Amino acid sequence: MANAFDTFTLKDITLKNRIVVPPMCQYQAVDGMPNQWHEVHYPSLARGGAGLVIVEATAVSPEGRITPACLGLWNDAQAEALAGIAASIRRSGAVPGIQIGHAGRKASAHVPWQGDDHMAEDDPEAWETISPSAIPFGANLPRVPRAMTPADIRRVQADFVAAARRALGAGFEWLELHFAHGYLGQSFLSVHANKRTDEYGGDLAGRGRFLRETVAAVREVWPERLPLTARLGVIEFDGRDEATLADAVSLTRDFRSLGLDLLDVSLGFSTPDANIPWGPALLAPYAQRIRNEAGIPVSSAWNIDTPELVRDVLAREQMDLVMLGHRHLVNPHYPYELARALGVENPARTTLPPSYAHWLDRYR
Ligand code: FNR
Repeated sequence: MANAFDTFTLKDITLKNRIVVPPMCQYQAVDGMPNQWHEVHYPSLARGGAGLVIVEATAVSPEGRITPACLGLWNDAQAEALAGIAASIRRSGAVPGIQIGHAGRKASAHVPWQGDDHMAEDDPEAWETISPSAIPFGANLPRVPRAMTPADIRRVQADFVAAARRALGAGFEWLELHFAHGYLGQSFLSVHANKRTDEYGGDLAGRGRFLRETVAAVREVWPERLPLTARLGVIEFDGRDEATLADAVSLTRDFRSLGLDLLDVSLGFSTPDANIPWGPALLAPYAQRIRNEAGIPVSSAWNIDTPELVRDVLAREQMDLVMLGHRHLVNPHYPYELARALGVENPARTTLPPSYAHWLDRYR
């Protein structure tokens, strides 16, 4: 039975505890480049005590950004700037991770607080979107994407590989492929988005092909000693959940045999018609199912909002790592509060850098 402040080792990487800052888009980049915002944001989170800090969804190509303000890793200047962020995360006490992805048919959107919807096609900042089939997401994202050709598929996979190489060169030690949340990877798997009749569509073997090939190609350049992970939406809450979960278990087994080290269990978000039963730790039972049935370590997130829930999802072995998004936005030092609430001895020394902790544990 794991506790929140137990270490966790995957390949050659040991996290000092089970708490993770999940990838969270900041929508503050220009031309995919990080800037002073990211230089402050990421080390601040790392100082708070999480064992792993994963940099936000970072696009493998310009067209793969969700919005014009998303980070990118398609050129060397971006990699050089991200190297500084990886180093400052490490210097602040956490393992530096990064999520790379392609937004597919959800790309070319306004940032969330400016509408979260597709930009008009004649907007000078907008770009063409691509997806497995020419089917729009709908609702606030009505733009019809162009169906990808086999050449598009090869190009995007090569972009994932190139971004993984750059992430390695930048000093990241934990790589997460973004195959969740209705973006490109998830769209290949989803029956809502993928109606292809070639070998990249149809049954699970076909709908999973793009994802399996991408895992295999990235594993070739991402060293064996470092964890390769993927975030996958394993459930849509669209009324066909048993089938989606069974697909996710089967695909995760394939990923494992291709060298994936951990699955980050998340939501599909492939259809606006989902009916998600928002509630405390709503994904924990599904994370446990993937962990048990696919035989792979898992991380998961979503509404794990109290110290008791963190303790319980670990004690019940529903997940190996707990991702806390909103908690960290409220308080970047949340792991310190968590350690106090869970009765950890020397909570400051366990979580915070010595230049903070010395004073906090000493004079209480
Ligand atoms: C997110 N989320 C997210 N997920 C992801 O896979 N890549 C991303 O870049 C983002 N971006 C993002 C931005 C912001 C501001 C938020 C709040 C969330 C989802 C996030 O990683 C996490 O799964 C959810 O926030 C659920 O966890 P909590 O917040 O309930 O602990």
